[in-house]
Amino acid sequence: MEISKRLQKIPPYLFVELDRLKNEKIEKGVDVIDLGVGDPDIPTPSEIVEVAKKALEKVEYHRYPSNSGSLFFRKACADYMKRRFGVSFDPEKEIMALIGSKEGIAHFPIAFVNSGDVVLCPDPAYPVYHLGTILADGIPYYMPLTWENEFLPDLGKIPKEVVEKAKIIWLNYPNNPTGATATKEFFKELVKFAKKHNIIIAHDAAYVEIYYEDPPISIFEVEGAKDVAIEFHSLSKTFCMTGWRIGFAVGNSFLISALAKVKSNIDSGVFTAIQETGAYALNNLDKIVPSLVSVFKKRRDILAEELKNLGYKFIKPSATFYLWVKTPQGLTSQEFCKKVIQDLGIVVTPGVGFGNSGEGYFRIALTVGEERLKEAAQRLSTLQF
Ligand SMILES: Cc1ncc(COP(=O)(O)O)c(C=O)c1O
Repeated sequence: MEISKRLQKIPPYLFVELDRLKNEKIEKGVDVIDLGVGDPDIPTPSEIVEVAKKALEKVEYHRYPSNSGSLFFRKACADYMKRRFGVSFDPEKEIMALIGSKEGIAHFPIAFVNSGDVVLCPDPAYPVYHLGTILADGIPYYMPLTWENEFLPDLGKIPKEVVEKAKIIWLNYPNNPTGATATKEFFKELVKFAKKHNIIIAHDAAYVEIYYEDPPISIFEVEGAKDVAIEFHSLSKTFCMTGWRIGFAVGNSFLISALAKVKSNIDSGVFTAIQETGAYALNNLDKIVPSLVSVFKKRRDILAEELKNLGYKFIKPSATFYLWVKTPQGLTSQEFCKKVIQDLGIVVTPGVGFGNSGEGYFRIALTVGEERLKEAAQRLSTLQF
C-alpha cells in the first residue's frame, strides 16, 4: 500500500521531538505549564450551554441538517456582520455554515485550484492554508510576514510570474501566530491587487472578536471587496467553543456557492442543535464576549510586563491570545523550545512550526490562568544559557 503523492507532499509533523520531551516530563511527574495550544481553558459560557441542552431535545434536529446551514443560523451571521462591520449580506446566497472554520479553509482550495496553480500563503501562518493548497494539488507560494513590515505581506515583492499563476491569496488578521492586525489601508491595497490580478481573497477572521484595543476590521469594510473575497469566521475562539465545531463563510455569492458544492459532496452540514446554539451566541455576542476577552486581556498584560522585564523582544498584541516573541541568545526556535521544556517544564510553540519565516520566534498561547502565567514567568527568570 502506498499513500497518494498528494499526501506524501504533506511535510512531517515538526513537533515529534518536542511532544516526546513534554510527555517524558509529565510521566516523570513534572508540573508542566502548557502554553503551546491555542485552545482556551475557559469553559463555554453556561448560558450558551443551556441553549444547547434545550436544542438537543428538539427531535426535528435529530435528522440531517441543511447542507449550507439553517436559515436562522445564516440570518444570525448576517445580522452580526451588519452590526459589527456595517456590511449587509444575503443569508441565503452569501453566507454558509461550516463545521468550524478549519473545515472551510481546508476545503476552499478544492473549489478553485487546478493542478499546478499557485496559492499565496502567509508565512508564518496557521498551517491549513498551505496544507489545504497541497491537498488540492496546488503550489503554495510563501509571503514572509516580518517584524519590519508589521507582519503584513509586501504584495509588491511577489514575483510577477507568481502573481500571474496565483488563484487565491490567504490572509489572517488578527493574526495567528504574530498577534498583528491589519489596517484598512492594507486591506484596500489588497482588494486593488486582487482585482488587478484576478486573484480570490480568502481572509481568515477567526480572531476578529479577541481584541483589547480598537475593534479589528473585516475585509468587507473595504469598498468592492465583495467582488473578490470570502471571509472565514469561527465561533471557536470568540465564545470558547473550540469543541463544538461551528463557524461560517461569508462573501461573494459565487465563491460561497462553489465552496457549498465541494462541501455538499463531502459532509452533511452542522448539527442543527449546534447551529441554534451558535445563532444564540452570535445574537448575544455583546453581552457574552466582553467578560471572556477581559480574562485574556489581564493575562496578556501580566505576561507582557513579565517578559518585558526579563528582556524578551515582542510587540504587545492588540488582538488574539498569542504573544510572538523573539528567541533570546540567537537560539533557533526549536533549540529554545526544547530548552524551556527540558529545563523549566514549560511548553511554547517554536515559530518555525508556522513556516520558515517563523524562525527566531516562539509563540505563547495565553490559555492558562494568571497564576500559571506568573509561575511560567518566574521559571523563565531562572533560565540559564
Ligand atoms: C488562524 C486560525 N484560523 C482558523 C482556526 C480554526 O478554528 P476552528 O476550526 O475551530 O473554527 C484556527 C484554530 O486554531 C486558527 O488559529
